[in-house]
Amino acid sequence: MYRIPRARRETGFTRHPMSSTWQPRHPALAKAVQLIEQRIGLNIAAHFQAECVPLLERLAGGNLAHLVRRLESQPESSAEWQALISTLTIGETYFLRDKDHFTLLRQTILPALTLEKRRQQRKELVIWCAGCASGEEPYSVAITLQEFLTDLPAWSITILGTDINGRAIEAARKGVYRQWSFRHTGIGFEKRYFTAVSGGAMIKPEIQKLVSWQRANILAAAPLPACDIIFCRNVLLYLKKDSIQQVEETLFRTLVPGGWLLLGQAEAIRFQRERWHLHIFPGTPIYQKPLAAGEAGRIDYEPPATHGQSTPVPFALTRESAYIDAVRAIQTDRQEEAARHLMDLLAQYPAHARAHALLAFLFAGRQALPEAQAHLDAALSYDPLLADAHYIRAMLHLEQHNTASAREALRAALYCDRGHVMSAYLLGSLQAAAGNLPDASRLWRNARRALIALAPHDYVSDLSDMTAATLDALLVARLDED
Ligand SMILES: C[S@@+](CC[C@H](N)C(=O)[O-])C[C@H]1O[C@@H](n2cnc3c(N)ncnc32)[C@H](O)[C@@H]1O
Repeated sequence: MYRIPRARRETGFTRHPMSSTWQPRHPALAKAVQLIEQRIGLNIAAHFQAECVPLLERLAGGNLAHLVRRLESQPESSAEWQALISTLTIGETYFLRDKDHFTLLRQTILPALTLEKRRQQRKELVIWCAGCASGEEPYSVAITLQEFLTDLPAWSITILGTDINGRAIEAARKGVYRQWSFRHTGIGFEKRYFTAVSGGAMIKPEIQKLVSWQRANILAAAPLPACDIIFCRNVLLYLKKDSIQQVEETLFRTLVPGGWLLLGQAEAIRFQRERWHLHIFPGTPIYQKPLAAGEAGRIDYEPPATHGQSTPVPFALTRESAYIDAVRAIQTDRQEEAARHLMDLLAQYPAHARAHALLAFLFAGRQALPEAQAHLDAALSYDPLLADAHYIRAMLHLEQHNTASAREALRAALYCDRGHVMSAYLLGSLQAAAGNLPDASRLWRNARRALIALAPHDYVSDLSDMTAATLDALLVARLDED
């Protein structure tokens, strides 16, 4: 897709003309970036160029080659590695993040798992939170378990939180949190499980003792041999493709057959998807390691979890401002940030059709088609006349080489919104490719007419970083060609 050039600050990186990633210009810098990417797995060139270069310069003290040699010989626990890790990783987290996951844990996963364990008279549960940042996620799991298991003392419970960032693990171990960590919980949650201390609220000892902590790199060997449940949420989002593949392998290997994997809501398994059993709950794909061979590759569309005792939200995101933030992030090529805004928005407004449509678009961009389809289904169930959703449906059909259905979906988009210029442009292109030039010209002329309503620098859609002027130029070129 054509991307609009934007002014960027001088970073020591330059954009490769044929790709969307940034390449370091100096050999020593390239080596440092490569080393960091190899060790931590982060996709630095694409996301962190602005933070990475000043930090490397500071640590290097004028000799980058020396720094690289030091880093090569040091473990990730060293002060220099930890300085890099603290700066380059994103530790955003909060209690009960992605509430749907905790509802599913309580209503679907734990009932199934504990029933089976009781049957086998093996009352033990092993849960790993990989990339747990400052610990809100493992503590939320421990609280859910405590609420669910009425005979908790009779169980052997292991909940292990790991993160590569030593400072985050120390904070988790301390268990003292500021109000910001409670932004998606009700007041009752904090009162029940925390005690006020200077500097915040401290987790109560009966929950604290359920969780253990370890500073660990997810690219190394798994810290536990066999897990019933793994949370690895909002970690893969930041990793390079080969690191993702390596982590997915570890996650699969570390789960027991029948074990469950929860990824972030905007994440999806990318490699060897066919070996997983995918459960699509509305808005929340969850993966299970198959118990039996026949379950591998199965996709089950599950009914919505009933949000029994949903906790009130202390302050509400403004619905439209959160949506607009997500759109801006998409239009400026910050897909992960967009996904985060959308997940937060859906946590509060699960029936927000346009947010589901945008998440479908983001999943489709990552080739996570079942997840994209699930969000698309949700979008269209809440708003059957949403033109963007029909447009995304067309793109999914094209992804599967189903041009006839793509045409139908684009016609549906134009039926819902005659001025949906992306649909008119794409349908025109399909018609032109099929040799139907009069129809193509008509569609492109319609698109040009619809563009008149926009200023030249307006984006043509929530789903695109193309401006009205850019699309108009494309349309003119196509009309001249054909
Ligand atoms: C956005 S936080 C996610 C926290 C929590 N899982 C959640 O969803 O709320 C991502 C965490 O992944 C950690 N991380 C990144 N690369 C890692 C690696 N190679 N090994 C272990 N943790 C890593 C970061 O330090 C950061 O704390």
